Amino acid sequence: MDLFEYQARDLFAKHGVPVLAGEVIDTPEAAREATERLGGKSVVKAQVKVGGRGKAGGVKLAATPDEAVARATDILGMDIKGHTVHKVMIAETAPEIAEEYYVSYLLDRTNRTFLAMASVAGGMDIEEVAATTPEKLAKVPVDANEGVSIEKAREIVAQAQFPAEVAEKVAEVLVTLWKTFIAEDALLVEVNPLAKVASGEVIALDGKVSLDENADFRQPEHEALEDKAAANPLEAAAKAKNLNYVKLDGEVGIIGNGAGLVMSTLDVVAYAGEAHGNVKPANFLDIGGGASAEVMANGLEIILGDPDVKSVFVNVFGGITACDEVANGIVQALELLASKGEEVTKPLVVRLDGNNAELGRKILSDANHPLVQRVDTMDGAADKAAELAAAAK
Ligand SMILES: Nc1ncnc2c1ncn2[C@@H]1O[C@H](COP(=O)(O)OP(=O)(O)O)[C@@H](O)[C@H]1O
Ligand SMILES: [Mg+2]
Repeated sequence: MDLFEYQARDLFAKHGVPVLAGEVIDTPEAAREATERLGGKSVVKAQVKVGGRGKAGGVKLAATPDEAVARATDILGMDIKGHTVHKVMIAETAPEIAEEYYVSYLLDRTNRTFLAMASVAGGMDIEEVAATTPEKLAKVPVDANEGVSIEKAREIVAQAQFPAEVAEKVAEVLVTLWKTFIAEDALLVEVNPLAKVASGEVIALDGKVSLDENADFRQPEHEALEDKAAANPLEAAAKAKNLNYVKLDGEVGIIGNGAGLVMSTLDVVAYAGEAHGNVKPANFLDIGGGASAEVMANGLEIILGDPDVKSVFVNVFGGITACDEVANGIVQALELLASKGEEVTKPLVVRLDGNNAELGRKILSDANHPLVQRVDTMDGAADKAAELAAAAK
């Protein structure tokens, strides 16, 4: 989960990374009081989860409360790289910026380690620095068990060749930033710019944080950071029902048991869809190993509730949960939905294989539901589901 700048700022503050004061608002008029509270001037900053706000005109200085209202009027509602600005942060103005640095920690999956990155050439052009003069961006692996002590931080600072007068200050920031990274179970913490101001202090002026949702169970405070307004309503409904669901942009709804099977079902449907006007999978949904009728009903409800879905492919390989239970689950799920008054009108293609497949198939045949078709091979079922989706488009 990516955070807004103001949320990153709050986490930095919590762990001792030096930041400036700021308030989030969503109406231009509120910029006046917020700016007055900051002593009469401020920086108005678009809160969107995308970089390059400064270059896009989403970060503006305001010398008076009136100007802050004017800048907030300009920025609220603005589109930055496809993101509409709904909130702005009214931030304290940094006192005379002398230098802009870059520091970050991230999970380096390729090398199976954490990585510190640091550069004295930070600010708005760090991407260009990384691309054209990579020697200006120090990359230092961080051992997960050892973490970043002040000694390690000094090593990072030395590799990035920070000037002597800020070296110790930057090292201290690196230690607190590491605390943020670990304590919050982040996948990325980035400060750009880390500004050296006239007094010689270094301050984090912009922050980017991405949290690891796998750690949500031990991070109860992270739920409040979710941007509920932006969440896909189907994904939110699925999450509430503990389903592993990801919305995609095609037309064939997919339900399977086991992430690996569902992943390969997506591939097979996408391939089969090429012959049927390029229909594609509409979602990823893994109902897991021990899927009961209720879980199947929940899954079907989510998928059938997606207006983009034109047909559904239920692909189950019976294991611990045998196919006869799954087949009963499907039949009961359809009854359950009907009893809730949710009329099922989209065709379902079901492929059952594995443990007790024969019995499962018989249950489906006997139920003889008008919208359910049985196809016993994965390729055949994918082709059928794609054909039905194309016909309904
Ligand atoms: N509070 C602030 N005070 C003064 N200048 C700021 C402040 N926040 C940002 N800036 C300036 O604006 C530039 C862009 O802001 P930043 O928050 O980094 O947005 P982005 O990275 O999305 O462009 C910074 O590099 C810095 O020069
Ligand atoms: Mg920035």
